[in-house]
Amino acid sequence: MSVGAAITGWGGALPAAVVTNEDFADRLDTTAEWIRERTGIRERRIGSTTGALSIEAGRAAIECSGVDPSTIDLLVLCTTTPDQTMPANAVAVHHELGLSGGAYDLNAACAGFVYGLFAGYGALATEAMSRVLVIGSDTLSTIIDQSDRSTAVLFGDGAGAVVLESIPGEDRFLSWDLGVDGSARTILQADRGGYLTMEGREVFRRAVRLTVDSATIALERAKCTPDDIAMFIPHQANLRIIEAAAQRIGIPADHTAVTMERTGNTSAASIPLALTEIADAGRLEHGDLVLLSGFGAGMSWGSTVIRWGS
Ligand code: ACO
Repeated sequence: MSVGAAITGWGGALPAAVVTNEDFADRLDTTAEWIRERTGIRERRIGSTTGALSIEAGRAAIECSGVDPSTIDLLVLCTTTPDQTMPANAVAVHHELGLSGGAYDLNAACAGFVYGLFAGYGALATEAMSRVLVIGSDTLSTIIDQSDRSTAVLFGDGAGAVVLESIPGEDRFLSWDLGVDGSARTILQADRGGYLTMEGREVFRRAVRLTVDSATIALERAKCTPDDIAMFIPHQANLRIIEAAAQRIGIPADHTAVTMERTGNTSAASIPLALTEIADAGRLEHGDLVLLSGFGAGMSWGSTVIRWGS
């Protein structure tokens, strides 16, 4: 391709209020140990709004990239929990951040951020625009029954964002794999105005398989092996899902991002929040190969291999 894309800025946002496993144990039929051992989560942040978290994360990513917000041509806001049905949540975020061009919401649940990257990448490939802001933002607490121990303990709220910029003659996105299986749409769903319902064991089983299959396809398409991957950043739903998937793909634990301990599953925010934490910790070097892989309601999934560096 004549025009490629690179991630040139990143940032995240979390609500202030912390809800610990002990807080759930105080009011539900569960224990702090059960939650930690079965999920890897110790606490999560709950509150704020999808719009407010998106603005904070988007602003941080723009500052990190050093670009003028008015030179951003497109906003893709990946969310399953917009603050209102209409207009798109992206419209308010676009206005508050002072962006140019268009803005829309994209819903692919917890796989949303990889879908959003793909949308932003495709927009840059048209050569009609040169900068795109991609935000993954969810407040799943708004669709969770807080008295249901089987779902309440799993999720948190948050947002993560990246600035994508076109780079002529070079491409840092080496491969893609996206998919959905609508025959499994009822195992994880929320009706309009209703609570999220989930067949946990079935989602778990499929999540491991989908992550392994999708990541493996992305690796093959990038013509690289698991040994080439400096950092695997999977969707942060459950530590046991991550460990099982990483082991089957063949990526060691010290090359696998695990950040959900303090955030829980933040849905579309989970991969960009993890990316931000890993990048800010200095764990990514220029030229490193990074594998992102998400799965979620649908079931939907997406993976991409990126060569890190602006
Ligand atoms: N505390 C204590 N016991 C619990 C709790 C809890 N918080 N939650 C469930 N249990 C019970 C169940 O009721 C069940 O009891 P039973 O045997 O009497 O029926 C028992 O624990 C075991 O249930 P399992 O479902 O087998 O437990 P498992 O070890 O599989 O862990 C979990 C449950 C954590 C939900 C797991 O299945 C999981 O992580 N699934 C995937 C969830 C996920 O990733 N969802 C997000 C997808 S991304 C998106 O798009 C939003």
